[in-house]
Parts: sequence; structure tokens; C-alpha cells
Amino acid sequence: MLLADRFRAHAEAAVRERSPLYDEWSRGIADDPDVLALIGRAPEARRQPALVLAVARWLGAPLEPWPSLREWMLAHPDALVAELGRRTTQVNDVRRLGPVSLALSRVDGPVALLEVGASAGLCLFPDRYAFHATARGDGVDVDLRWGDPVGDVVVGLDIDLGSGADAPPSALAGAVSAGRVELPEIVWRAGLDLDPVDVTDPSAVSWLETSLPPGPSDRVDLLRRAVAVARSAPPRILRADAVDGLAAAAADAPTDARLVVVSTGTLVYLPGARRQAFVDAVRRLDASWISYERRDLLHDVVVPPHAGLAPGGDFAALALDGHALAVGDAHGTRVRLLPS
Ligand SMILES: C[S@@+](CC[C@H](N)C(=O)[O-])C[C@H]1O[C@@H](n2cnc3c(N)ncnc32)[C@H](O)[C@@H]1O
Repeated sequence: MLLADRFRAHAEAAVRERSPLYDEWSRGIADDPDVLALIGRAPEARRQPALVLAVARWLGAPLEPWPSLREWMLAHPDALVAELGRRTTQVNDVRRLGPVSLALSRVDGPVALLEVGASAGLCLFPDRYAFHATARGDGVDVDLRWGDPVGDVVVGLDIDLGSGADAPPSALAGAVSAGRVELPEIVWRAGLDLDPVDVTDPSAVSWLETSLPPGPSDRVDLLRRAVAVARSAPPRILRADAVDGLAAAAADAPTDARLVVVSTGTLVYLPGARRQAFVDAVRRLDASWISYERRDLLHDVVVPPHAGLAPGGDFAALALDGHALAVGDAHGTRVRLLPS
């Protein structure tokens, strides 16, 4: 895709993310040959719009309309290109725990939780967060709560129970309709990441914040609250590749707990053959496996086509042991459960 088109696509994503400033900035860059040429000096893999905008902010670009950003970028070309060569965007989105915790509720505890692509490890604490969900379907309209009822981190989730499908509803849909979602006890937690974020390092956490698009402050607030939880008991995150490091990371888990390997928004970064190698490596472990990944990414997770979903509503598939339980949006804020 041409660089200008990548910024145009990013402008559309910014609208969905409710970030008018990133929408304006991205459209401005897409139509500006001078700024595009400047970004073109960075290594190919570092010209991603989200990274370019985050790096500009990190280096001091003001959160002001596009003409100010343009002026700032053209005044700091070398610093911008050098920093683009050094950084990658870092994302750790606890909202994905909404769907993941639904799958986790189907696993018998006690559980040893191992997240692959854990970033700062913020998704390793579902039992410390409060989940507030609404579930709607044929004749069902319930509010549900699970997790820590007094948790400072409140994760919302809209659940569509599906309607009148030809197949019977799943056990998960039955539990959700009855308002019964409970997490198993988590007795051990650890992560694995090629480039972990140290949750105790203020600069690393600040970069996590800068990687979020400016807009509704609720995402930054959620991130800060989750960071506070993780700092109270910093999780162990092994610096290793998802495939090569999996067996070693799993070997540390207690043997009297059910090992659950989780991946969310991570396997897309593995080339196709490595992705399958990861799936094969998980299947060689005596473990449960929860994935919340782009729906067309894994051969092992088969998702039937869906009609009637809002745009982006089936971006991701939630699966337990490769069996698809639901489809949902990229951030995990809404899901539709699949029949069994
Ligand atoms: C988009 S982030 C998702 C983080 C977290 N799972 C979440 O949903 O918030 C992807 C993470 O995967 C890590 N990653 C990318 N390739 C990897 C690999 N081959 N092995 C292990 N981790 C990898 C990145 O460093 C990054 O922290």
C-alpha cells in the first residue's frame, strides 16, 4: 500500500477510535508530499502511521491542528527519522480481557496463566479487574458482573447472544444468559514477549500512553489504573519468541494448576509458518489455549460467515482450544457468541 494510502486508512481508523485529531493529522500527511518524503526516509517497517504520530508527540509535537504538526515535523526532520528507527508502537489493551475472560470462565481452576505477547503484562490480572457486561439476545437482556467486584479497573463488554441460529446455543451462551460468569482461581501468572514493557519503568509506561491515540481520556485512565495493579505485583515476563520460548515459559508453571496459554492481538506479528508452529507448540503442551486474534488468521480456528454485524464487529475470533466461541471487534469491547 502506498504511504499516502496508509495514512488515509489510518484516518478512517482514527474516526472509529474517536480521535478527531489523528483523523485530521493523518489526512493532512496523506495529502502532503513534503511530509510523506520525510517519513519515507525512515526504514520501511517504521513508517506505520500510528508509530509516526506517536513519535512526533513523544518528541514534543503539540496536540494542535494539522498546520502546527506539519510545521513541527518539517522543523525536526532528523530527530523524527532517527527516533522512528529506534521505536515500535507498544499496545497493551486490557479491554481484550472482556472476551478472554469469557473463555477463561469455561476452564476449571486453579489456573496458571501464561500470556504470549504480554507487552507490559496488564492482561495477566483478570481476577483483579471488574467486568461489567450487558448481554442481549432473543428475549434476554441481562447485566452481568464478574472478576473483582471492587476492582479499580472496570472493563465493559457488550455481548450479543446471537439469534435464532440453526445450531443450539453454546454452553457459554447458556451461562451468560443465566448471568453466571465466574473466573477460575488464578494461582500463577507469567508472560512471554519479544520486547516486554517494564511496568515499573515510568518512561516505558509513558511510551505506552503515547502509543494511544489522543481522544477520549477513558483509555488513558484505564491504562493507568491497570498499570497501578500490575505494579503492585509486577508479573514475570520472559523476553523470548512466542514459538522458541513457549516450552521454557510453560515449564515454570505449577503442575497442580491448569496451564492456560493466552494470545491476543499478537499472532499477526508472526509470519504464517511461525504462526502454525506456535499453534503446534501449544498443542504439544498439556494446556488450554485461549486466542483473541484476527478472525482469518489461524487455520485451526474456523469461524462461520456472519451477517448483520456492525462494521468491524467480526474483526477478531475468540477461541478456546481452537474452537471458536465468538466474534468481536479489534479491542474486545463487543462480541457476538457463536452457536455450539
Ligand atoms: C499488539 S501487542 C498486544 C499486547 C497484548 N497481548 C494486548 O492485547 O494488549 C503485541 C505484542 O506481541 C509482541 N510480539 C510480537 N512478535 C512476537 C513474537 N514473535 N514472540 C513474542 N512476542 C511477540 C510484541 O512485542 C507486543 O508486545
